[in-house]
Amino acid sequence: MEETVITEKQLNELYETLKMNSELVGEWNNRLMASCEDANWSEVVYERAKILREVYQENEKLFNEFFSSLPMRMSWQEWDLLFELLWNLHENSLYVVSFGLRLARYLLPHYEDMRDFAKIVFLNYAMGCAHYLLFDQTLNADGPSEWLQYFERITTYEDHYAEIPREAYRGLFFTAYLNLIQYSAEYPSLSGRASEFRDRCMALWNREEVQKLDGNAPYVKAIVRNVEEQYLNILSMNPSCITNAEEYCVLAEQALNKMGRINLKSDPLGYYKIMENSYKRIQKQTSEEASVVSMSDYILKALPAINFEKSDSKRTWQLLRNEHSCFAYAAKALKKLPAEKGNLLQGALNRLIKDSVHTPHTFYPEDFNWTFYEFYGLAAPLLDNAEDKLSLLLNLILRRQPTTYVHSIMVSKIARMIGESVLEHNPSLFIGLLGYATEKEILENREKILSYVERSGLLHDVGKCRVAIIINTQDRKLSEDEYGILKYHPSLGAKLLEDDPDFTPYVDVIRGHHKTYDGKGYPKDFDNVNSPVRVLIDLIRLADSADAGTDVLGRYYTHGKTFQMILDEFKADAGTIYNPDLVALIENDKELCEKISHQTSDGRMELYQKICIEVMNMHKNA
Ligand SMILES: [Fe+2]
Ligand SMILES: [Fe+2]
Repeated sequence: MEETVITEKQLNELYETLKMNSELVGEWNNRLMASCEDANWSEVVYERAKILREVYQENEKLFNEFFSSLPMRMSWQEWDLLFELLWNLHENSLYVVSFGLRLARYLLPHYEDMRDFAKIVFLNYAMGCAHYLLFDQTLNADGPSEWLQYFERITTYEDHYAEIPREAYRGLFFTAYLNLIQYSAEYPSLSGRASEFRDRCMALWNREEVQKLDGNAPYVKAIVRNVEEQYLNILSMNPSCITNAEEYCVLAEQALNKMGRINLKSDPLGYYKIMENSYKRIQKQTSEEASVVSMSDYILKALPAINFEKSDSKRTWQLLRNEHSCFAYAAKALKKLPAEKGNLLQGALNRLIKDSVHTPHTFYPEDFNWTFYEFYGLAAPLLDNAEDKLSLLLNLILRRQPTTYVHSIMVSKIARMIGESVLEHNPSLFIGLLGYATEKEILENREKILSYVERSGLLHDVGKCRVAIIINTQDRKLSEDEYGILKYHPSLGAKLLEDDPDFTPYVDVIRGHHKTYDGKGYPKDFDNVNSPVRVLIDLIRLADSADAGTDVLGRYYTHGKTFQMILDEFKADAGTIYNPDLVALIENDKELCEKISHQTSDGRMELYQKICIEVMNMHKNA
């Protein structure tokens, strides 16, 4: 017999360490917020930074050692131990992408060789989920091709259904269909396939061997019921997914009849309310306008006020999800009506804004980060002016990601300082911004220019709100996949604002803030060198690096350098990464250097504490 190199004890220890590290990070994040009004808060901040750095390094070491120490040849017991580790990580949503994905990739070929269908199905499922988690965030056309293949591959093993020993594994066939139906609705290129996936799912369910095995199995039956509900919900929410209106109406009628009276208890997520509206719209029993009014009334009158302090967080989750779904449905219907009808949704909009900006950032971030991103896109056209939009956007950033918010304020403050120095020492650098063609015009419009610079700093990272929480709160080095996703945030931010004339001047800055002076960096398809606002992109890049490089608060990988060290980097990379004129300007303006040094040390600490207190009070008053 081969010598066993991987032991159960060793893997248990690894699992426990990963779990502990994840809990430790959560604990310190809570402590940071909870103690923000204490006199010794800065000690907590530094202690937390130290702990997070240690966790970050330990995880990194564990991951690397684990993969490099895997024996060349393994016994089946060893393979199974590894499989079990992955199963446990998955069950507890621990390091699913970074570690789990790598492990699943490693295990799959072995179990394919063994033709162990249960494990093959689970591994594909784990990989599909991890890829969805990553690519859902990108709104990228390639996204589905990554995750779709894993869920689709599961369905190719349907003929082996009866050979799979455990109900938990067999249920994955249906969960895979559930995900295919759900996720496909998010991508326009796939929206027509929801019906196909549902039909294939039902065909599997009705197979003789499946009915014989699981026809009465509560777990599998519940998933199949969920598939039916989700399918109708998705069609109701997205009329573009309805390829066969007649079939939809028959199914909706059956479901609505079965439901009887729609109330919050029987329809906690609003699925049936939305279905009823869709059905009536297709049947022409109601007009678009009446449908919007009915949804708005429902949100305002039928849904009780949300209270985040309540201990029943599942119920709060349901209410928030319900109102967001109904609002999204109504806002999409409203788009078909003349502009002056916009006020039909005003009441509901006000409520949604209030609830959204009161949602603690720790409240189901995986679910609500993308919801709020979508919500902003639906709400913005209903807001009267740029100020209201900016305020909603900043509030959403603050509530979703306080650390991104602090960073945005920091970048805007540093950018303004650099902007003031430009106006004083070399105003011609700003020629072209906001359409000003001469130095004289620039100087005459000093405040407008500075406010433009400041707001560019505030907005540069809006796209991060759409990036997965696992990527934004890293307690380990990002995997290549994750880093690839993070790189989408400039495009995601630009996409959110590009159609809004109020934000046109900011779009290039948002899209280009990770490009280098000489045109490298990401996104690759954006030409910052020829952008009319190139100098502002370069300025924000400097301010961004000055904050990120000196930060010991928001980022786990905490560079924590001094501004002087950052300035040396600016000088070394002037002309390649950084704009040489701006670098020279900063270098020669001693007063500016001092101001930035202060802002990136004590200044940040004060700002951070102020914002933490604000966030905590906001949650208390919710
Ligand atoms: Fe960024
Ligand atoms: Fe940034």
